[in-house]
Amino acid sequence: MNKTIIPHKFYIETYGCQMNQADSDALANKLQTHNFLKTSEPDDADFLIINTCAVRQHAEDKVYSRIGVFNKTYKGSKKIIVLGCLAQAEKKQLKKKHPAVDFVIGTYHLSDIVNILQKEQTIATSFNQYNFLESVPEEKFSFKAKIDISHGCNNFCSYCIVPYVRGREISRSSKDILKNIQRLVQTGVVEIMLLGQNVNSYGQDTKDISFPELLYKISTIEGLKRIRFLTSHPKDFSDELIDVIFSSDKISKYIHLPLQSGSDTVLKKMRRSYTFEHYKSIVDKIRKKDPTTALTTDIMVGFHGEGEKEYQETLDAIKTIQFDDVYMFKYSKRKMTNAFSLEETISEEEKSLRLQNLINIQREISLEQRKKLIGRTVEVLVEEPSKLNQNKMKARTDTNFVVIVPSKNKKIGHFYNITLSSIKGQTLIGKEES
Ligand code: SAH
Ligand code: SF4
Ligand code: F3S
Repeated sequence: MNKTIIPHKFYIETYGCQMNQADSDALANKLQTHNFLKTSEPDDADFLIINTCAVRQHAEDKVYSRIGVFNKTYKGSKKIIVLGCLAQAEKKQLKKKHPAVDFVIGTYHLSDIVNILQKEQTIATSFNQYNFLESVPEEKFSFKAKIDISHGCNNFCSYCIVPYVRGREISRSSKDILKNIQRLVQTGVVEIMLLGQNVNSYGQDTKDISFPELLYKISTIEGLKRIRFLTSHPKDFSDELIDVIFSSDKISKYIHLPLQSGSDTVLKKMRRSYTFEHYKSIVDKIRKKDPTTALTTDIMVGFHGEGEKEYQETLDAIKTIQFDDVYMFKYSKRKMTNAFSLEETISEEEKSLRLQNLINIQREISLEQRKKLIGRTVEVLVEEPSKLNQNKMKARTDTNFVVIVPSKNKKIGHFYNITLSSIKGQTLIGKEES
């Protein structure tokens, strides 16, 4: 007689960047195709999975606190699985720090998750063969998908733990990427986000086609309507790439180009290999092609050697460029990195003051940038009902701005032309086209 197999249930929680989100979606899909059931309630689950980030101390602290909560709530009745970047950084130390953890799964072992979970306990953190997971539509927005085009990073910026936890850059084959995107489009995906720590160096390790060539090929896939990509490194942002971006309406006119600091002295200490002048020349080229292109960046304050003068240079830089949005962080010392042994030159309090001041200045700039859009008619992709008003929907422009639009005759996953009429907080409000 056949034994009835009761499927195991898993719950997954994700921290960190978009690549981690993409990994979690792909991992959940893999488990589901192997008879595991996904649940959104930790109470119902047999396996509690935490996909972790280690980029800043704060990210690390959050993970340890979640492990503590799971341990206290479930007292050994469920398996705790820690995977991703912090698992990779900590390796067996993680289990020493938190014996309640059953599985420590590093960034190279996600594709082996089904085999691993069949064991009692495992620490899998070696860097062996890297296998890309099949990208699937996002769970919440089935008309969108994120796809890793490369894994890891070769840049070794002096503050950054990513190359140590994700390993060296490995590009996925362009053939595989194109086939995967075609499969996604067949299931109804209209927007794709290409992901890599530095998408601009795609293909260099494998002598495959270059990133601009890949982007162009993807733009010819029928049925695909919008293509986004993250993250670009200023040192590799070529004129050829700019030409491809502006050659197709499908390629989003939204560019995230991390600057990190406006001071050349600090950029050098960060090992970023560009000057502010070079950065500014890329921005000028982009805006010459189309001044309405949205530009966002990452800025870090309080890095080793950032004095008052260098900090002012960063403030001057954001005033000069006028970004649409800036992701702002306090420098956080990470083990393994080159900057780990460098002394901190300012206190935590001073870093917080610098960050807050930067946030205040940028908030005004972001608002002014959005105000320039009022009166313009733009195409938006409707994502979901608005949380605050049931007669409205939340939509997104090609340039990645959120717009609240009237819900009448609108379908999720479809495109509409909307005239932007006002702003509430930092959110654009659209009126119906007559
Ligand atoms: N590959 C991308 C981003 C990687 S991490 C890039 O090169 O831009 C995302 C952002 O986190 C970085 O752009 C940086 O601003 C920030 N970051 C990285 N390491 C950090 C650290 N040690 N402390 C504070 N912020 C950090
Ligand atoms: Fe980190 Fe620099 Fe690589 Fe970005 S480019 S992941 S900041 S080492
Ligand atoms: Fe964090 Fe790893 Fe992404 S350290 S930012 S989850 S690559």
